[in-house]
Amino acid sequence: MLINLPISIFFILFYKNMHPSYKMTFVRKMALGFRMYRNTKKIKTGTTYQAHLLMALKLLEIPPDVLGDVVECGTWKGGSAANLSIVCKIVGRKLRIFDSFEGLPNGHPEDRMARHASTGLFCGAIDEVRSNISRYGEIDVCEFNKGWYQDTLPGIEGPIVLSFLDVDYEASLDICIRSVWPHLVSNGYIFIDEYLELNYCSLFFSEKYWDKYFKRKPPGLIGAGSGLPLGSYYIGPFRGLGTLSPLERPTGPAYTRKDFYSSWEFYPDESEVTP
Ligand SMILES: C[S@@+](CC[C@H](N)C(=O)[O-])C[C@H]1O[C@@H](n2cnc3c(N)ncnc32)[C@H](O)[C@@H]1O
Repeated sequence: MLINLPISIFFILFYKNMHPSYKMTFVRKMALGFRMYRNTKKIKTGTTYQAHLLMALKLLEIPPDVLGDVVECGTWKGGSAANLSIVCKIVGRKLRIFDSFEGLPNGHPEDRMARHASTGLFCGAIDEVRSNISRYGEIDVCEFNKGWYQDTLPGIEGPIVLSFLDVDYEASLDICIRSVWPHLVSNGYIFIDEYLELNYCSLFFSEKYWDKYFKRKPPGLIGAGSGLPLGSYYIGPFRGLGTLSPLERPTGPAYTRKDFYSSWEFYPDESEVTP
């Protein structure tokens, strides 16, 4: 909302850990925030400018000597990509964009998220996305990878410092995680947008999943179920965006990091503890 716009920008970007070499003065931080806000009004965008600012903040924290690109999976009309391209330009990183540019694929019958969506939803043609980013972002840092994730993501090269996975389906999240995670740098970030769906978030807490594919404990997910509270009011549980009261609006996203761990380890002897 317009009233809390400067306050949101201030709280998100005035966090202490920004790396000094990016020379983000007060004016540059506010200009970045307003530009990102403006872009979410100019391009039809599925995520908020606060979510984009949070990813910007994490990128501005990563020292420039840590090598790696930024990867966005799930672009639609290019709104989040335009904003990520702006911060990529500031921090000197490439933005690699992966999308079908034909919208969502056919859903797998066992994919619970696919039951609420349809084939072709969120279609942004590649020329339209390019033109939006050229107009509102920084096209020279962008690389476009068109195709279905099962064809374009396996074999992706690293290093990757941050990846934004806004891909809706469980099957799409699964292929994204299995392809991107091995190439994340040790403090690298994964952000997701479907943070309101607890089943979806459970991937990040599943001991079976992380043991099966990565032989490690799950990393967990900050913001599971509600997203990060970036100046918003949200109670949950999630029953669809249409059920929210007028002022209730999660601004998210949720994220994890390569070096995070989240597992329950306390299993006392039954003889020791009797509930
Ligand atoms: C919700 S939209 C992304 C919204 C965008 N991040 C924004 O903030 O406006 C989801 C995108 O994921 C893409 N997508 C989902 N699954 C895919 C798959 N398996 N292969 C390629 N693209 C996929 C769709 O084409 C669509 O552009």
